[in-house]
Parts: sequence; structure tokens; C-alpha cells
Amino acid sequence: MEQILLKHTRPGQCLTFDEYRSVAGFVALTNALTTMTPAEVQQSVIDSGLRGRGGAGFPTGKKWSFVPRDLPGPRYLICNCDEMEPGTYKDRVLLERNPHLLVEGMALACYALGVQHAFIFVRHGYEQAAENLRCSIAAAHLSGFLGSNILGSGFSLELGVHQSAGRYICGEETALINALEGKRANPRVKPPFPAIKGLWGQPTVVNNVETLANIPAIITGGPLWWKNTAATPEAAGTKLFCISGHVVNTDCFELPLGMTLGDIIDGPCGGMRPGSIFKVCIPGGASTQYLTGAHRDVPMDFDTVAKAGSRLGTGGIIVFDQTTCMVAVTLNLIRFFARESCGWCTPCREGLPFVQHTLERIESGRGEPQDIDILREHVHMLNYAFCALAPGAMGPVDGLLNHFEDELREHVSAQRCPFKGVHTC
Ligand SMILES: Cc1cc2nc3c(=O)[nH]c(=O)nc-3n(C[C@H](O)[C@H](O)[C@H](O)COP(=O)(O)O)c2cc1C
Repeated sequence: MEQILLKHTRPGQCLTFDEYRSVAGFVALTNALTTMTPAEVQQSVIDSGLRGRGGAGFPTGKKWSFVPRDLPGPRYLICNCDEMEPGTYKDRVLLERNPHLLVEGMALACYALGVQHAFIFVRHGYEQAAENLRCSIAAAHLSGFLGSNILGSGFSLELGVHQSAGRYICGEETALINALEGKRANPRVKPPFPAIKGLWGQPTVVNNVETLANIPAIITGGPLWWKNTAATPEAAGTKLFCISGHVVNTDCFELPLGMTLGDIIDGPCGGMRPGSIFKVCIPGGASTQYLTGAHRDVPMDFDTVAKAGSRLGTGGIIVFDQTTCMVAVTLNLIRFFARESCGWCTPCREGLPFVQHTLERIESGRGEPQDIDILREHVHMLNYAFCALAPGAMGPVDGLLNHFEDELREHVSAQRCPFKGVHTC
């Protein structure tokens, strides 16, 4: 299996700048600045089929093409390393092992976009990742890969690291922009989208860490080679899947995009733990719908997981076994989202705690049959929230209703949790 992002890395250790240089680090940037135009770099990203790794899977080259080239004033690139989605830790693993890939990827993206100032928005608590980035940026400056007139090309770039004060909503791109401007981190109305009017009112691209870290390999290996590292012709590239739950190996694995769920669990994850039988998983971070045993043959790619009724999201897979109470799991997730609602819009601020209390009633054995209908109504109602936080939060609730309505009904009719004494959640 081809390794692109985790190649040359060692668990628990950060690749030094010199080690990165010795394995062709900054060759892609050097080649691009000396032999390619910005438009050619952008075209390579389009041809590669790279889709954003931050959760929505939006095609990266297409997003870049929305940035107007003729507006006066600066443009910005922001790297989103907020990573507060429960079950997701891929960006942290990457930055703790090889921050230089992101620095080089951002330099290439900025060259393509005509950006001279870019920012990395790092999650509160990711101290090591932020420190690694600062060191890498300083070393890149000393070696002439950042700063003014890079490698005599006329292209200049400064990268800044910003550490978040720590809220889940800061990962939403427009809330992130507000936070970076020093304002309260509420989402903004879209349109205008950040590509037109973003940071300080200027055109701004927001991309995830993993998205940007793939760009050096697209330039060095070529878009077609990069695309074909996927497991299926429809997919493109590799993906960092971070695994947790009842499997033997819980770790962050770089795997071909499009590998089936079953092959991921039986292969790199080493199967289920002794005594555990697969019941269900969250495929892409806490805001995605459950996938069951019937989905083991689903290729883990954006469109195929969407067709199966869920989302690939961040690739943060959480696996649960037969002892798990899905009402308790869903309640646990909803408690997180209700706490993290920024409070800006009523459906999210009032709706998520209401859903939480409904699930609390059911889980503790005080639920009524109509509580299940109330949950169903709220799945649809919360689609009318201001941003994607509340609809995402309702993903697991929707999954609970679609796949585990029998468990909900059992709680209500038995007036207790049928898993009490056995469940591990
Ligand atoms: C509530 C919420 C939280 C989000 N958190 C993150 C995050 O931590 N990291 C991230 O890259 N994208 C996050 N996103 C998605 C971003 O808004 C944006 O789509 C993404 O950074 C774009 O990068 P990409 O195109 O490279 O995927 C979040 C979205 C929402 C609605």
C-alpha cells in the first residue's frame, strides 16, 4: 500500500527538517517555482481529483478556482487544524510526525493562489503540533523556502501559526475566520463564501491540514500517479483513517481511499478484540450516520459512503461491539454537540439540549413512545439551523432511528436500559 503522508515518519517522533530535505522535501516547491506557472500547479490539483479532507470532501482545485484573480488587495490561505470532531486525530498525528509536509503544501497552494500571507489555525491543546510547525517554519525561512523572493522566483510568503482558544465551532470555516479576526467565533452568512469575501473581507481559501499536505506529492509524482494510489478508479489518493473502539489495533493508518470498511477492520485494525463481535461503526467522525454490518463491503470513499446513507467525513472510524448500547452512545455524542453549540441560532441552541434531554429520558428508563417521534421530528427540524453543526449533530440520532429503533423501543417498553451491566460505553 502506497504511503504518501506517513512515509518516512516514526510513531511518537517528529521528522527533523534535515531528514525531510534528505527524502526529497521541498523538491516539489523548488520544481514548481522554477518550471511551473501558478495556473499549472492549480491544474495539477484539479487533475489529481483531490477532495478536501476536512469533512465535506469538496474538490480542492474547484474551490481554488472560485478565488477572483482581478480584485485589488491581498488574498489569504488558512489551514484548518481545529480538529475537535470526536474520534478524529489524524491532523495531530501528521503534524506531530511531519509538519514540513504541511509547510511545503501550503507554500505550493499559496503560489498557485497568489497568496503572500497564510495562517495555520491550530486546535487548543495541540501544543506539540503548534511547536513543530513553528520550528519547521523557522527552518524553512533559514533555507530560503519562505520569506521574500523565495529561491529567486519573485514569489514571497509568510506563514503564521494561530492557536485557538478552543471551541468546536471554530472548525467551521466562517467561524474560524471570525476567531482569527479576534471576534466571537460565530458562523457567518454564506454567500458570500470565503473564496470571495473571507478574512478581513478579502478572498480566502480554507483547507484542511491533510488536504494541503497532499499537494507536494501531487506535484512530485504527478496528478495521475497520485490519483491512482486509491483502491478504486472512482476514488483519488490515500486517506488518513484514525481508528478507535473495540478493534485490536487503534491507530492512525494511511490507506488507499476506497478500501472497504470490512477490509479496514480485518486488515490494519487486526479485527475485533477477542470476544467482540462487530455491531456498528461511526465512519467519519461523530457527526456522521452509523454504518452497520450490512455495510462492510462499502468502499470508504466520499460518494460511496454517501450512497450508503452516511458520510466519509474526516475518516475518524469508531467501532462498537455487541455489548454497546446505541442509545447511550448517541446520548454521549449529543451531549458533546449540545455543549459546543455556539448559541448563535435558536434551532441549534435550544434544539440540541432538547434532543439531549429526550435521549436522557429514554436511556434512563423514563421515556415514552412519543419521545421516539419527537427525535424523528428533530432530525429534520435541525436541518434549518444556521450552519452545519446541528445537522451534523443529528447524524447519529438519524442513524439510531434508522438502524436501532428496536433498541429505542426496548428502552421505552422495559423502562430501563437493556444493556445495563454489559455495555461498555
Ligand atoms: C461545526 C463544524 C466543525 C468543523 N471542524 C473542522 C475541523 O476541525 N477541521 C477542518 O478541516 N474542517 C472542519 N470543518 C469543515 C470546514 O468548515 C471546512 O469545510 C474545511 O476546513 C474545508 O477544508 P477542505 O476543503 O480541505 O476539506 C467543520 C465544519 C463544521 C460545520
